[in-house]
Amino acid sequence: MEQQETIAMPRIGDDAPQFTAVTTQGTINFPSDYEGKWVILFSHPADFTPVCTSEFMTFAKMQDEFKELNTELVGLSVDGLYSHIAWLRTIKEKIEYKGMKDVEVTFPLIEDITMEVSKKYGMIQPGESNTKAVRAVFFVDPKGKIRTIIYYPLSLGRNFDELKRVVIALQTADALEVATPADWQPGDDLIVPPAGSCGTAKDRVDGKESGIKCYDWFFCTKPLAKDEVFKAIKK
Ligand code: BEZ
Repeated sequence: MEQQETIAMPRIGDDAPQFTAVTTQGTINFPSDYEGKWVILFSHPADFTPVCTSEFMTFAKMQDEFKELNTELVGLSVDGLYSHIAWLRTIKEKIEYKGMKDVEVTFPLIEDITMEVSKKYGMIQPGESNTKAVRAVFFVDPKGKIRTIIYYPLSLGRNFDELKRVVIALQTADALEVATPADWQPGDDLIVPPAGSCGTAKDRVDGKESGIKCYDWFFCTKPLAKDEVFKAIKK
């Protein structure tokens, strides 16, 4: 029977594994070069492929929106640097897709022919492919901790509105010590921390705590306007 290599997968709450890598924007040391910023570190299966091309164009189009959220983008595939350069040139010079054209990808794209980085991050998932990274997305906070991980298979292009929503929701939770309910969007009610004592629980169900709405003692929300959310996370 073929032996499969066992690889530890990074988990939410772990320090992002460190690496130094060659990219299309020069060498980077991760995560130390990004201290004080959020980073979306993402992998894609291969250069010169259609789903990946649609994703890179979308990421490039949204790069300024992520920058406004103090968030940098770093891509990776197991292709080499010259393949990356050629692909990004092709995207800029030849591809027009959904109204996007002349798209320049200026965020770093890591070359990882040795698979050193992709293996460290659990991006090679042999059940899907031994030779290509899956579409992994790691959200790393300004202290270098992994805060969210999303994996997609090779055939499924990512939802970029969701990636942006995750960044905003994580930053909102940090800034305001709240949680965000299902399908939360900025401007929707936020979940306040649960009652920490029987007295608070009773006050909440009795409607004695102002400014919050309780569905039961353990499930209470408070409103916060969209512009207040953005004010809080930009502080
Ligand atoms: C794509 O990006 O189109 C793709 C890459 C690898 C496998 C399948 C699709």
